[in-house]
Amino acid sequence: MTERTLPPTASVTEKTSDGRLIMPAALRNITAISDLVAQVIDGEAITNALEIASGTGQHILHHAKRHPEITWQPTDVDEERITSINAYAAEAPEGNILTAQYLDATKPGWSDSLPPQGLIVLVNLLHLISTPEAQTLIREVGKTLKVGGTFVLYGPFMRGGELTSDGDRQFHADLTAADPEIGYKDDFDVTDMIHASGMSLISLVEMPANNLAFVARRDF
Ligand SMILES: C[S@@+](CC[C@H](N)C(=O)[O-])C[C@H]1O[C@@H](n2cnc3c(N)ncnc32)[C@H](O)[C@@H]1O
Repeated sequence: MTERTLPPTASVTEKTSDGRLIMPAALRNITAISDLVAQVIDGEAITNALEIASGTGQHILHHAKRHPEITWQPTDVDEERITSINAYAAEAPEGNILTAQYLDATKPGWSDSLPPQGLIVLVNLLHLISTPEAQTLIREVGKTLKVGGTFVLYGPFMRGGELTSDGDRQFHADLTAADPEIGYKDDFDVTDMIHASGMSLISLVEMPANNLAFVARRDF
């Protein structure tokens, strides 16, 4: 994995005494993301789901409580976050969160180490990696999904090459100043990456705080 220098605003967390991390941003966006996930998998017979870059573990606990019929696999690259994810996972009443795994989603070939998934969720990572890394990540997502499986990708993006709010212009500038290879990806480029990875884009959803969610399905 390429070590990235990030601005302090990229991933703000607080630590509790039992190893759980709290990310205020994760608390702010979880309801909208969870509602979208519930809507797109409604009526689908999904038994397993992978979360890439689970962060603190707050999101996957929420998903696991809302969808107890699904076994959830959390992952991340950061040991402190993996500890936090496992602490949150212990709170799942149905015990349906697997032990968090180390997964560098930018490393070619990671799909070989995981069983086929009915659902893959990724929140707030693409702006923190380079374009070639994003291409690799989405290609591996396409390989890891079962045929007919669903990919939900959420985050801040450019629209048609444009940054569309003052907050987004500032954040993108902070990211590229810290590391010129990272920053916001464009919605058209991400759509092309999805289509080049054996998936169809089902919908592109405007989310709160000027974020976007891509919903894609594996075709074959
Ligand atoms: C901004 S946080 C988002 C966390 C969580 N998805 C959320 O929205 O609350 C970005 C996360 O990506 C993880 N990450 C960074 N590089 C990664 C990589 N190459 N593969 C997988 N995860 C990565 C970080 O450790 C961090 O937990």
